[in-house]
Amino acid sequence: MKHLLSTADLTKAQAIELLDIAEDMAEVRTREVKKLPTLRGRTVVNLFFEDSTRTRTSFEAAAKRLSADVINFSAKGSSVSKGESLKDTAQTLEAIGADLVVVRHSASGAPQVLAQSGWIHSGVVNAGDGTHEHPTQALLDAFTIRRRIHGSSSRGADLQGLTVLIVGDIVHSRVARSNLWLLTTLGAHVTFAAPATLVPLAIDRWPVDVVHDFDEALAVKPDVVMMLRIQTERMRNAFFPTEREYARLWGLDQDRYRGLKPEALIMHPGPMNRGLEISSEAADSAQATVLEQVANGVSVRMAVLYALSALPDADILGRPE
Ligand code: CP
Repeated sequence: MKHLLSTADLTKAQAIELLDIAEDMAEVRTREVKKLPTLRGRTVVNLFFEDSTRTRTSFEAAAKRLSADVINFSAKGSSVSKGESLKDTAQTLEAIGADLVVVRHSASGAPQVLAQSGWIHSGVVNAGDGTHEHPTQALLDAFTIRRRIHGSSSRGADLQGLTVLIVGDIVHSRVARSNLWLLTTLGAHVTFAAPATLVPLAIDRWPVDVVHDFDEALAVKPDVVMMLRIQTERMRNAFFPTEREYARLWGLDQDRYRGLKPEALIMHPGPMNRGLEISSEAADSAQATVLEQVANGVSVRMAVLYALSALPDADILGRPE
């Protein structure tokens, strides 16, 4: 595997193997010296054209724990403001020595272009492209679910039979798309709950049930409830009357939180709009996995960097030494 662009590209065996490697990486965090020499001498470039807290810092932590050199590029403050293109920016950073490029871009498809155009020869990891995909977020979500469900016997396990409800701003959500492909590949049953205005037009062709009433979707007692951020920065129209109305109909408020089955997981990719799509009571509860997701993101991104750097030609991934 040379690039990671979409979770739709992963077979079930590859997805499980990546999650298993992430388990190995998570063990490194429990050691006194939390580093592996695996990527010594390699350079990872974080090429971020959109803002990020979790993804950029956890890729940086992941690369450093594998002993790679890291270059962090942010479009803000760069020569992008002078009109430099994606191609020229990427080629410039490759000339500085990038072996792997982790790219976040507002344009859906930008990582595919970098990987497939021949502009650069490095491996490419999609760290979120427009409304298209965020594959490492889905992998860390699947890892978090698997750990909570299977505990110490997670290795090798899939998510067969699990019911996952993904709620809110589906149309703008790369997290929803990447999770749908990955969770379905792993055997889970995914339902989207959203107002009709926040569901993509092509949804009929996707392997997902769609419900337009949050309380109806909750009545079947899903195993996992994943709340999505309302992405106002991508909204050019009014998709719902008011934030107050959205919170009333689509927020995981105190009453809805208290109606979940006690073992149900509450997930959110972050950043959260507290009081809008999720109440603080739900976000800070023992059922919430929000900070676990962040911590697991480092292990999962270590696994991805390892797989792409150390084993670019392997179809079935290997295991770190
Ligand atoms: N979940 C996520 O992608 O968060 P950031 O935008 O902070 O990276």
